[in-house]
Amino acid sequence: MSSPEPTPPTIGVFDSGFGGLTVLRALIARMPRARFSFLGDTARLPYGSKSRRTIARYAVESAQFLVREQGAEFLVIACNTASALALDAIQDAVPVPVLGVIEPGAASARAASQTGDVLVIATDATVRSHAYSEACQAQGLRALEKACPLLVPLVEEGWTDHPVTAEVIRIYLNELNADAAARGLRPDTLVLGCTHYPLLRPLLERSVPPGVRVIDSAEAAAESAARLFNGRVRPAGDQPNAQTAGQPTEIHCFATDSVEKFQHLGSRFLGYPVGPVQLIDLGG
Ligand code: DGL
Repeated sequence: MSSPEPTPPTIGVFDSGFGGLTVLRALIARMPRARFSFLGDTARLPYGSKSRRTIARYAVESAQFLVREQGAEFLVIACNTASALALDAIQDAVPVPVLGVIEPGAASARAASQTGDVLVIATDATVRSHAYSEACQAQGLRALEKACPLLVPLVEEGWTDHPVTAEVIRIYLNELNADAAARGLRPDTLVLGCTHYPLLRPLLERSVPPGVRVIDSAEAAAESAARLFNGRVRPAGDQPNAQTAGQPTEIHCFATDSVEKFQHLGSRFLGYPVGPVQLIDLGG
């Protein structure tokens, strides 16, 4: 007789905006039977241009909402900025395990890089924290980080395949590659250190020098989360895909600003309709 399926956990996932839906998409692919509550703190976005103190306050309030109001038993911080500047504050504020995206991203870069030199693009706050440099150094890698503050607004605008975005990417990557060459680095890996950037992956892949691999911290974080849940959620490969089997994954979406915009753009990030979105107020 087969053993009864374990009760699926409730996993809370949050980002400052829609970008974290790229992590949610990767989580669902690996754990389609878990129950997910996703919060996009869209009213207070961007986090990436703010101070550590403000980011920590916003991130803790978002985390507490998911744990206290949604009963999340586990949190995935689907935002590099919040992971870089507020992981400790979140862990101190909620009584559940919390996974950020920086360590999985650095581990993935380690697995991909032959030369040991990696490039990281991220928000201004993430770069100023040097969280990626430290995580990469712990993996024996040298990381060169660059803030790309124009990319998040372009993605939030839906300009993911637009000539202006392509030109902005070209300029940022030219500057980063010139800096790497001046330092004598031989980078073979580019880490997308912001969960908004996977939406720009096709444009980014066209702009990196040949032979440079693009690493998505969203995929790496979902892989780590799935490993942590081993035993509580059967892996995706063991069961029919929940969506194709007519058993949709249970997803509850919350936003702190326009639910219409969340539904419209969020579906693009998730890859299919996000369903009903509930407006919540976390204060200013
Ligand atoms: N998605 C966030 C990240 O991964 C950045 C967005 C923002 O600046 O709020 O860093």
